[in-house]
Amino acid sequence: MQPAVSIQQLEKTYASGFRALKSVDLDIRRGEIFALLGPNGAGKTTLISIVCGIVTPSGGRVVADGHDIVRDYRAARQKIGLVPQELSTDAFESVWATVRFSRGLYGRPRDDAYLEGLLRDLSLWDKRDSKILALSGGMKRRVLIAKALSHEPTILFLDEPTAGVDVELRHDMWQMVRRLRERGVTVILTTHYIEEAEDMADRIGVINKGELVVVEDKDVLMRRLGRKQLTLALQAPLERIPDELSGLPLELSGDHLSLVYTFDTQTEETGIADLLRRLGTHGIDFRDLNSSESSLEEIFVGLVHGSEGGRR
Ligand SMILES: Nc1ncnc2c1ncn2[C@@H]1O[C@H](COP(=O)(O)OP(=O)(O)O)[C@@H](O)[C@H]1O
Ligand SMILES: [Mg+2]
Repeated sequence: MQPAVSIQQLEKTYASGFRALKSVDLDIRRGEIFALLGPNGAGKTTLISIVCGIVTPSGGRVVADGHDIVRDYRAARQKIGLVPQELSTDAFESVWATVRFSRGLYGRPRDDAYLEGLLRDLSLWDKRDSKILALSGGMKRRVLIAKALSHEPTILFLDEPTAGVDVELRHDMWQMVRRLRERGVTVILTTHYIEEAEDMADRIGVINKGELVVVEDKDVLMRRLGRKQLTLALQAPLERIPDELSGLPLELSGDHLSLVYTFDTQTEETGIADLLRRLGTHGIDFRDLNSSESSLEEIFVGLVHGSEGGRR
């Protein structure tokens, strides 16, 4: 099946000479929720802005829903909805006029029933006659979402959708994203909130300093790079780890009351049986133990760190 968005060898060097994207290759699958994860300045907004036709690429090619975004700009843009990172809207218009105008911009025939449903979904129906400048920040963001969906795009970009957003809007937004996916809409979101990617995404791409470091199914990523930790709560404080055990991936907590053993989820042999036996021979008793899997956050930090280390 043709991907929703196909990005090939995409390059961006800004007029300042800064190279914000370095030969990015990425296919977004139809109907997936794709999270683009990366620290500030990684190039997320640049990437999205190019796909949406706001920033001109320096090289490479982007095809959105079968349309080349440069050669076939209007057709490509009609398929795309963008909820931008920055709040900016025509402040003096009413919500209803803004959304209807936006739909018209993309050459879509009038469909008031669709727009009504959209505003209702976003809890904006009661505010339809309000001027945008009179709305709260959260409501303004809802208007941006309504605008982005006004022309029934098949691909929706959300650039840092929940940065500085209240809990209720965040909840509504995720509900809406899930509903959109059920209708077959492809959703690409950028975030530096890792939990969001963990909760929402089918696949995750990690971008750092303009380079796509990894693209992977979320579950595979978490399994492949995940580590487990076994924490042993000790019966008595331990002054230091005995020399005979120093070769193990073992750490003593700052309060000397627990030992943390790290192991790979990939390997067959965790070494736990051996560990427990050796602790026994050293008279180190524990009263409790529990294991935890590393979060996407730890994986992410590891990746970003690793990619930097690799280039130095
Ligand atoms: N118009 C511009 N001119 C020069 N540099 C820019 C411009 N826009 C963004 N940059 C730089 O490109 C890099 C990537 O920015 P951006 O795509 O906004 O990152 P992100 O969205 O991941 O935080 C940053 O270092 C930023 O300073
Ligand atoms: Mg950004």
